[in-house]
Amino acid sequence: LELERWRAAEPVGVFGGSGFYSFLDDVEEVVLDTPYGPPSAAIRVGEIDGRAVAFMPRHGDRHTLPPHRINYRANLWAMRELGVKRIIGPCACGSLRRELAPGTFVICDQFVDRTRGRADTFYDGPRTTHVSAADPYCADLSRLLAECARELEIPVVEGGTVVVIQGPRFSTRAESRWFARMGWDVVNMTQYPEVWLARELGICYANVSLVTDYDVGLEDDPEVEPVSADAAFEVFARNIDRLRALLFRAVPRVGPQPDDPCASALDRATVHG
Ligand code: ADE
Repeated sequence: LELERWRAAEPVGVFGGSGFYSFLDDVEEVVLDTPYGPPSAAIRVGEIDGRAVAFMPRHGDRHTLPPHRINYRANLWAMRELGVKRIIGPCACGSLRRELAPGTFVICDQFVDRTRGRADTFYDGPRTTHVSAADPYCADLSRLLAECARELEIPVVEGGTVVVIQGPRFSTRAESRWFARMGWDVVNMTQYPEVWLARELGICYANVSLVTDYDVGLEDDPEVEPVSADAAFEVFARNIDRLRALLFRAVPRVGPQPDDPCASALDRATVHG
């Protein structure tokens, strides 16, 4: 019954990342199971200025799921079950460029997938489906997030490429140098397949990558040490208020899903079945 009410409201989905486990105070918890198994946590549904929101901490309530153990398919399926058509997926990331200092928010518009062995499709046959990944992020939602960040005077970069590593280890100096030379901007462990699975369901997805570190350090500055989990968490914690402020500003301004490439992703994608 309640589920029907929330579904009709088409809540804005929000995934919480490292250091971001709760969002609203006045929430209703919805426990959902999916054909892919249980999601990371119950979904918390509530409202911001009358706009319905559905929040899920992707690493679980007590951060017990490392990036390679997250059931991304279950998480996205559960969001869809709840009527979510548009998702904001904030995350922590390492910077591969000097200009992207810790504390910067990057609204990524491309990913490079360096993960392996993750269940990353809903189309396992017999219906053979190939969905275009040319522009995997929602341009409309990304624009809104960048606009809201600027209004709040948060240092924000609109557009960027995130290279998603398998983890849980961080990168070697050689890997990090390679990523930087390829022109990629930030590095993270969870954007893939999260953003991708949203697209496979025709759901809009936009990212906010919060820079927490310079990955392996800076080549010409020995003072900047390679990232540690502790240090990344610490920087995230210092910036969580700005992230919350951004979400509180953006969510009420998220309109219904437009007739955009996210919504029409499945048109002309099935070749057999
Ligand atoms: N998350 C935060 N910092 C990171 C880094 N340097 N590499 C991968 N994931 C990260």
